[in-house]
Amino acid sequence: MKKIAVLGAGAMGHGIAYVSALAGYDVWVRDIDQKFLDKALENIKKMLEKAVAKGKMKEEKAKEVLDRLHFTLDMKEAIEGAELVIEAVPEIMDLKKKVFEEVQKYASPECYFATNTSGLSITEIANITDRPEKFMGLHFFNPVPIMQLVEVIKGEKTADSTIEYGVNFVKSIGKTPVVVKKDVEGFIVNRCLVPYLALAIDDVGRGVATKEEIDATMKYKYAFPMGPIELGDFVGLDILYYGGEQWSLVPNADILKEKIEKKELGMKTGRGFYDWSKGRPEIPK
Ligand code: 3HC
Repeated sequence: MKKIAVLGAGAMGHGIAYVSALAGYDVWVRDIDQKFLDKALENIKKMLEKAVAKGKMKEEKAKEVLDRLHFTLDMKEAIEGAELVIEAVPEIMDLKKKVFEEVQKYASPECYFATNTSGLSITEIANITDRPEKFMGLHFFNPVPIMQLVEVIKGEKTADSTIEYGVNFVKSIGKTPVVVKKDVEGFIVNRCLVPYLALAIDDVGRGVATKEEIDATMKYKYAFPMGPIELGDFVGLDILYYGGEQWSLVPNADILKEKIEKKELGMKTGRGFYDWSKGRPEIPK
């Protein structure tokens, strides 16, 4: 069985681990605190239970998937023998660099490195490692089990053979790869999406329309699956805010800054622009 390591057990990390284990990989998830690992396992168990209850998965298969998932605080244990490492830690450049400095102590020379960054420079992270040619972006979307697309991003020194490996890995987990040939801020999707979300949030602050009016327009009349304010809450307002701080292309609205200061980060904290404490908000038509 092929071993892969996922670093960071948050919303993206546990989703990536889940879909990889479903596809037959032996997956090692590493985080810095047991409580994040416990939460990840709890979320994965819920998804498996739901799939079994709906008749979409046999109970034995769910058990096999769980057997293929390992959770650890130990970097060495997670990395040794892995053919691919996918980093999904918070969007802080120095943190990502620090993680890869540790990873390369234990990784075999054949091992590929990938970052799930939303838009930070692949090249800058790759250049601190001993293998920039084996380094790529593998950018998943939230919720990982549902969203088909994965961007496979080429850094300045990424070899074509690495992109080929990334594309085949994405296909092997049943997802759809799109190769991003240039390492630009936000890649293809977030380059379009994040300014759109940030501008909609700015419009709320300016009184262009209420959040409900903007969301209802984009959701019911423009036929997007979610409105931009709801989607901002869903993705995490901190991700938009820090994206805005680090990318030149995103305006950072004052109203967003206030939300960050109040720690109202969206779905994950139970409140953002909407109240998520009882589940997804109802957007009036
Ligand atoms: N995890 C797992 N499954 C989930 C889920 C989650 N977080 N949220 C919803 N689902 C499942 C539901 O269980 C349901 O499954 P079922 O059909 O087996 O019952 C299915 O998705 C549909 O859910 P709902 O009927 O409750 O609601 P919707 O039809 O509105 O679908 C949605 C939910 C798929 C989240 C849809 O609203 C959507 O596509 N929203 C936009 C998501 C999006 O754009 N994501 C990308 C964000 S950007 C990003 O991640 C990049 C980062 O770098 C910022």
